[in-house]
Amino acid sequence: MSASRDLRARAAALRGEIERHNHQYYGLDAPLISDAEYDALFRELQALEAGHPELVTPQSPTQRVGTAPQDQFGQVRHRLPMLSLGNAFEPAEVAAFDRRVREGLGEDEVEYAAEPKFDGLAINLTYVDGVFTQGATRGDGYTGEDVTANLRTVRAIPLELPVTQPPALLEVRGEVLMHKRDFEALNAAQRAKGEREYVNPRNSAAGTLRQLDPRITAARNLTFYAYGVGASEGTPKFERHSEVLDYLAQNRFRVAAERQVVRGVDGLMAFYAKIGEKRAALPYDIDGVVYKVNALSSQERLGFVARAPRFAVAHKYPAEEAVSEVLAIEVQVGRTGALTPVARLKPVFVGGVTVTNATLHNLDQVRAKDVRIGDTVIVRRAGDVIPEVARVVPEKRVDGAAQWDMPEACPICKSKVERIESEAVFRCTGGLFCGAQRKQAVIHYASRRAMDIEGLGEKLVDQLVETGRVHTPADLYKLDAADLAALERMAEKSAANVVAAIRESKHRTLGRFVYALGMHHVGEEVAKILAQHFGSIEGLLAADWIALIDEKERVQKENTRRRNRGEALMDAVLPGIGPEIMQSVANFLAQSHNRDVIRELLERGVKPESLAPAARRSGKVTGKTFVLTGTLPNLTRDEAAERIVAEGGRVTGSVSKKTDYVVAGADAGSKYEKAQALGVTILEEQDLLKLLGF
Ligand code: IVH
Repeated sequence: MSASRDLRARAAALRGEIERHNHQYYGLDAPLISDAEYDALFRELQALEAGHPELVTPQSPTQRVGTAPQDQFGQVRHRLPMLSLGNAFEPAEVAAFDRRVREGLGEDEVEYAAEPKFDGLAINLTYVDGVFTQGATRGDGYTGEDVTANLRTVRAIPLELPVTQPPALLEVRGEVLMHKRDFEALNAAQRAKGEREYVNPRNSAAGTLRQLDPRITAARNLTFYAYGVGASEGTPKFERHSEVLDYLAQNRFRVAAERQVVRGVDGLMAFYAKIGEKRAALPYDIDGVVYKVNALSSQERLGFVARAPRFAVAHKYPAEEAVSEVLAIEVQVGRTGALTPVARLKPVFVGGVTVTNATLHNLDQVRAKDVRIGDTVIVRRAGDVIPEVARVVPEKRVDGAAQWDMPEACPICKSKVERIESEAVFRCTGGLFCGAQRKQAVIHYASRRAMDIEGLGEKLVDQLVETGRVHTPADLYKLDAADLAALERMAEKSAANVVAAIRESKHRTLGRFVYALGMHHVGEEVAKILAQHFGSIEGLLAADWIALIDEKERVQKENTRRRNRGEALMDAVLPGIGPEIMQSVANFLAQSHNRDVIRELLERGVKPESLAPAARRSGKVTGKTFVLTGTLPNLTRDEAAERIVAEGGRVTGSVSKKTDYVVAGADAGSKYEKAQALGVTILEEQDLLKLLGF
């Protein structure tokens, strides 16, 4: 007998503990114990209940898993109607609300409780003697649907009020919603399963709440925020709405952390602005804020008109999403040649402005969202963010709408478009010629580490390009002092200096010139290797790049095989330059536009210093044996091996006493340990590059 009383007490204690930690975790985002400790408590209660089914109560946290499906929801008549709120959009409407309230109460300034307007579903929760007995949707305001079984699975809804003397009756009113992060996770899971995605958190909360199978509801993360009380008996005597919210928070309901008591219309407007700024960062969607006269006696005096209270108003934010239609998909070319697809839209008012264009980011995004010309789409604009196409409304797709593809030629200069596999980016290869890349190309050409034209900075290039004096770097050599002096803020003396600096830049090293061309992926180091290999600009232009790339791939494959067997490696063409970089150079040089500009540069007297084609110098690491292990920060292992071989070194696969250096990157394993044991010198990538003279 006493044993069973002990067990009953233990079960009750466990229920209390678990619900307390539920609230810390789901209600306050502030867990006090680890997941493992929580699981231990939960399992203890489950075991206890399994052995003694008579100890199971409907309020037990073990019962949140969801019961068997229902055929339909029952009807619930609300004890007090669930009303709606009047809306205000403009400051003048808020001022008019405040004026009516002041006149109604005969006060000069009124105290308001201000809070976010949750964009979820209105719910009424009934607690009898502190026990959750029923949850219902708003329905038509008078009769709603009984969704108790589903709401039991929502952990932010206490199944029992934690107070020792609970009220005989308490109706808690608030909104069921899905946090943005849980919505994203749900959609990611839907996507992975190939199932339909939800349009927004509100829709997914609605769909989840109205599941006839509570087990589905239980598997998703709904939450609940309380904003008021309906019918009640035996609660403390409240004087203000803000006290009601505090009471609900004490009873382990989530209430908005942003709630605030303010005074007068200025206080309301300041709150609106503050929450508006925070809106995007809030964990849940809101569509406005709600202002309520704080004193409950004043609320009573003001009463209701039709179905809305006179003492409260919803102040709405401009919609962040709107429906529009894709009229066309165009491609914008950025300063670096990157192509961005942009949807041209039927004008739509969203987030406070009229939107006619929305970014589609890149081709992968277009594919993922499957946006096609003619589609009806949801456009989103949050705060200052560039408007984007959030998703397509598939039901509205017109027959025969074709999948969209990136153009093969740049819409600005008609050069070939290349795809950079590793970056999911498409890029125009007409870098020297393309109108979109003009400024960038000239600025880069003139920069200190490239052709080093002193005095030709960004601002001057801007003016030269905008006034049509310069289209490509070759035009620089046509400028005279009069052209420059004609520009804004350009003194004659400095104009002459710039012209002299341009003239002087005709004689630079081949490495600098190659770098100055601004080929994608070709930094100073790669430019130097190219210069050394080809010896002259003519050599670079005459190369058969397709053959070189083939050769590169063949040697790399062979060397991987040899390295695994510990054999000596073959010499590779263009040591240290991978096939992707080579492809980028090949694409650039294949554009006749770019070749024309290079030819023009040479014709205007640019004469990069030619080198004798790389004679087989005695290398910097001739006769040394290297082993590569782990992931290097910048170079692939192939690239590192090629550079070592180019400088006369050998690369082998296993560490022995004969190994001179082990080059170790991240996650180096047993080879690293062996090197340490044998006392072999261990190098990081940067040490290797120094050794090789880079
Ligand atoms: S108070 C008498 N406070 O907005 C009506 N409602 O248009 C009292 N809502 O369906 C409602 N957040 O569910 C109130 N902080 C909040 C709210 C809020 C969202 C919803 C409410 C109702 C609708 C009224």
